[in-house]
Formats: sequence, structure tokens, C-alpha cells
Amino acid sequence: MSLIKLIDFPSLGDDRGSLVAIEGNKNIPFDIKRIYYIFGTQKDIARGFHAHKELNQVAICITGKCRMFLDNGNAKEDVWLDSATKGILIDNMVWHEMHEFSDDCVLLVLASAHYDESDYIRDYQCFLRVQKND
Ligand code: TYD
Repeated sequence: MSLIKLIDFPSLGDDRGSLVAIEGNKNIPFDIKRIYYIFGTQKDIARGFHAHKELNQVAICITGKCRMFLDNGNAKEDVWLDSATKGILIDNMVWHEMHEFSDDCVLLVLASAHYDESDYIRDYQCFLRVQKND
């Protein structure tokens, strides 16, 4: 099965413009406990470089684009996030990195839990060890 799990959000637009509606446990496969967004990213900066033990997330580039790289310890894949109607599911225990942010990129992230630094695995070798023992 592909590592890349995309969610298409219908655009409820009309002749006034576009609108996307997001609802926890409906078009997002979890209860949304937290929302954060990344913007104003400096040129040639990459972000992420971690996995989460428990947290599930959906990321949507609501403006601009960036390249999302995912790695589950066996397979690595990447995809451009370049549409306000396309989300990517980042499951727990998936190493993720975001690269090549456009100047105008606003990356919206919906998360299944409140912020908890102890849920992060920020060391890649540690991630591989935990993944193998699961
Ligand atoms: P981090 O998750 O490392 O960012 P990225 O994955 O984009 O590289 O977070 C950067 C900083 O922001 C770090 O000090 C933790 C803090 N932070 C919060 O306080 N709350 C949050 O919800 C998030 C996502 C980060």
C-alpha cells in the first residue's frame, strides 16, 4: 500500500470563489485537537525531520506549495502539496520532512492531540530502532 495517503476535499465554491470545509471524524479520520500552520518559511529551509509515536496529522498547503517526504522505515516517497483541496495523512510512526517551500506557502496542519514534545522522535536512527521493535 502506498505511503502517500491523500484526501481530496471538495471545493464548495460558487461564482463568488472557493470554500473547503473540514470536519473531524468526517473528512479527517480523527478528532481534531490542535491546528497549527507554517508560513514565512525562509529560502532553502527544510522542516520536520521527525516522527510521532502516537500523533496522527493531516497537512494541507492552503497557499503555495511544498514537497512532503515520508518514510516508514521500509519505503520512502514524496509528493508535492500544491492545492488547497488536497490533504496528506501523516500517520504516527512515519518520518516526515517538508522541503522546497514556495515563498507564499502556508502549510496548515490538523493534529489528533495537543502538543507533547515527548511524543516526538527526532533522531532517525532511534526512529528505525523503534519501528523495527513495533
Ligand atoms: P517542530 O515540530 O520542531 O517544527 P517542524 O516540524 O516544522 O520542523 O516545532 C518547532 C517549535 O515549535 C518547537 O520548539 C516546538 C514548538 N511547537 C509548539 O510549541 N506547539 C506545536 O503545536 C508545534 C507543532 C510546535
